[in-house]
Amino acid sequence: MKHLLSIEDLTADQIHGLLELTDHMAEISSRPIPKVPALRGKNVVSLFFEDSTRTRTSFDTAAKRLSADTMNFSVSSSSVNKGESLRDTIETISAMGVDAFVVRHKSSGAPLQITQWTNASIVNAGDGWHQHPTQALLDCYTIRTALNRRDGFDGLRIAIVGDIKHSRVARSDVQAFAALGADVTLVAPPTLLPPALVNGNSPDWPVTVSHDLDSLLPDLDVLYLLRVQRERMDEALLPSLHEYSALYGLTAERAARLAPHALVMHPGPMNRGVEMVVDPGELPGSVILNQVTNGVAVRMAVLFSLLGSGNDLKETA
Ligand code: NCD
Repeated sequence: MKHLLSIEDLTADQIHGLLELTDHMAEISSRPIPKVPALRGKNVVSLFFEDSTRTRTSFDTAAKRLSADTMNFSVSSSSVNKGESLRDTIETISAMGVDAFVVRHKSSGAPLQITQWTNASIVNAGDGWHQHPTQALLDCYTIRTALNRRDGFDGLRIAIVGDIKHSRVARSDVQAFAALGADVTLVAPPTLLPPALVNGNSPDWPVTVSHDLDSLLPDLDVLYLLRVQRERMDEALLPSLHEYSALYGLTAERAARLAPHALVMHPGPMNRGVEMVVDPGELPGSVILNQVTNGVAVRMAVLFSLLGSGNDLKETA
């Protein structure tokens, strides 16, 4: 594997393989000194053209735990502001010697385009509405560990609720959950569904669509809430956030109707009072912070798969 651009590029076996490697990385992360020399001498550069809290810091932490050198390219203080093109930016930084770029960009397809301009590995850390593959892997890992589903998700009932239309997380998660065997239902008002799903099924989406969250709740194993992405909406797709919340928000009453074993997940950042009305800290099934913790181990596994070799994990720092 040279790049990680999309969940579509991975077979179910490759997903399982990355999740197994993540177990190993989680063990390293739990040590008193959570660091191994596996990627010593490798240079990992973060290029974030869009805001991020957890994805950026977790890739950085992951690279450091593997002893890679890291560089954070901050767009706001770079020559991008002087009009330098994406291509010139990539070629310039590559000329300093880069082994992997971790890229987030508002345009779908930017990470794929960048593979043409550098010999470094490219990891997609979120491109437009398109893909966010490491988010999907960390979500799979979180479900796999919390529900003890090492062999796959056959028969697992997962609902993804909210702004599917603008969500690269939903696109990546649907592909990954379905590849592992889960039954995925998307729950959203028609205006927040991708156009392909508004009138029914689409071969590109291995899902069932519902507009009625309440009737699904008792049967779910996983309730996955998405952020209402107001910055990506260029027209009014919702009558009001209050109405959205009334129909699709997770209130204490709705949470009480979930099965005792059911997980509540969210990729963050959360809109409290919109999709998340109840305080998730009070929900026994919330694994939202586990998702963040697991994000580091998953990204270690991805960076190691792209840049590491052989016995590099056996030594300790
Ligand atoms: C998501 C993103 O940026 O795609 N956040 C994340 O990476 N955890 C989801 C979002 O912005 O709503």
